[in-house]
Amino acid sequence: MHRRGFLVAGLAAALSGSRALAQMKMDGMSDMDSMPGMGGHAGHDMGAMGQGPAALPEGEALRELPLLANEAGRQGVFKARLAAEAATARFVADQDTPILAYNGMSPGPLIEAYEGDHVEITFANRIAGEPSTIHWHGMPVPADQDGNPMDPVAAGADRVYAFELPEGSAGSYWYHPHPHGRTAEQVYRGLAGAFVVKAKADPVPAEYGDTVLMFTDLRLAADGSMPDSTMADLMNGRVGDHVLVNGQKNPRLAVGTGAKRRLRLYNATNARFLRLAFANTAMTVIGSDGGLLEKPVAADEILLSPAERVELVVAFDRSGTATLTTLDYDRGWMGPGRPAEAGQMLLTVDVSDTPAEAMPPLPERLRQIAPLGAPTVSRRLVFTETMAMNATGMEMGFLINGKTFDMARVDIVAKAGETELWEIVNQADMDHPFHVHGTQFQVIERERGGKASKPAYLAWKDTVNVARGETVRLLIRQERPGPRMYHCHILEHEQLGMMGIVDVQV
Ligand code: C2O
Ligand code: CU
Ligand code: CU
Repeated sequence: MHRRGFLVAGLAAALSGSRALAQMKMDGMSDMDSMPGMGGHAGHDMGAMGQGPAALPEGEALRELPLLANEAGRQGVFKARLAAEAATARFVADQDTPILAYNGMSPGPLIEAYEGDHVEITFANRIAGEPSTIHWHGMPVPADQDGNPMDPVAAGADRVYAFELPEGSAGSYWYHPHPHGRTAEQVYRGLAGAFVVKAKADPVPAEYGDTVLMFTDLRLAADGSMPDSTMADLMNGRVGDHVLVNGQKNPRLAVGTGAKRRLRLYNATNARFLRLAFANTAMTVIGSDGGLLEKPVAADEILLSPAERVELVVAFDRSGTATLTTLDYDRGWMGPGRPAEAGQMLLTVDVSDTPAEAMPPLPERLRQIAPLGAPTVSRRLVFTETMAMNATGMEMGFLINGKTFDMARVDIVAKAGETELWEIVNQADMDHPFHVHGTQFQVIERERGGKASKPAYLAWKDTVNVARGETVRLLIRQERPGPRMYHCHILEHEQLGMMGIVDVQV
């Protein structure tokens, strides 16, 4: 696949690959640069009037995500209702934006439960004419409770998701829809929420607070609506114009000098890679997708690919302004209109001269992570992209081991409780964040250009970026039987077929 060639030399010259999977009709094929979404990033489409994307108000006080109320009324049980439905949001003054929301809000309400809890959530799908599901991203829930595409909830129907939160499962998870062929759209229209499982005994001082920062990505048309995805969106994944934090653009947070804050950062965007730095502060990574690390690790910057999470302690030791800002990251953009990744201000912290209350230090050990040990099986998953022309348009394929997703096909049969080595090989021209349902894995090695490196520390992950040309080796063990999805978490790629099924058997 000669992606850059095709862009430079025109379509016909460089089209190769016969496996045509997703098919997009394109008019005016010979004049690709004039097409919406091809000649420029659609979100930066200047339009006839020469106006850029709408300006959003900035600098409002950071809103903590509202908690989903627990209706159980007894210890050890979390019971609630989540309805997915159409709603309106007001991102720009005097303009209503139709969105999808959980219980009327986007991001959805924050679910906070404890290790050992029994969870029972009734899902009401009130999206007109569309099936949906709720998938519990990263959580160790039974396969038939995990909102897989094989278990759609029809429009107008309800279903109960029930599961236990095992001891040791404390971590920063999230929930989002996963219906076949509609996940990408339902998520960018607003359906995603955070699910924090708290530890009964938490080593992180309570004085640091515990704040979820959920990043989503918004594109607004001039009339305030969210435009449909373009060809460029399908290829690269949909990237919007505004990265929002808890639904707000660059909100402000006020702290005293010397304050320490525990922040859980979520990349809930469809396709935006967030390389982040926090000016005028010291960042310490304390946790990954699946909970705390063994010990804190200082960090100058963080790469959070779509669906990844990181838990930080940030120390605000100098008065003034501390801004969380994006840095440039080249994830292999296909076509013209690569969005400007650098310099977006996501959060502004005002650090006052007034000293904060005294903060206890972060313990040097957070918990123990047992290495998964020697694998009994090893598997290789090769990610590729294809493009081809036919009479009706251009066809793109996002493949794993040469195949596109088929709900009726089991790709891998695994045994519950056995450790496996998975080698994720990215032979494509874009980065692909790899995700598996139902468990947390441990990355043990990365290889690029013939150079292998070990990760600096052990961590529980359910999503890992596999850069173009890179191989990531990970150890994985599924404890619970049933079919599990694995896929690229650029949701447009998942939707176009970059997904498979591992069937876990007892
Ligand atoms: Cu966020 Cu199939 O997952
Ligand atoms: Cu998932
Ligand atoms: Cu991908």
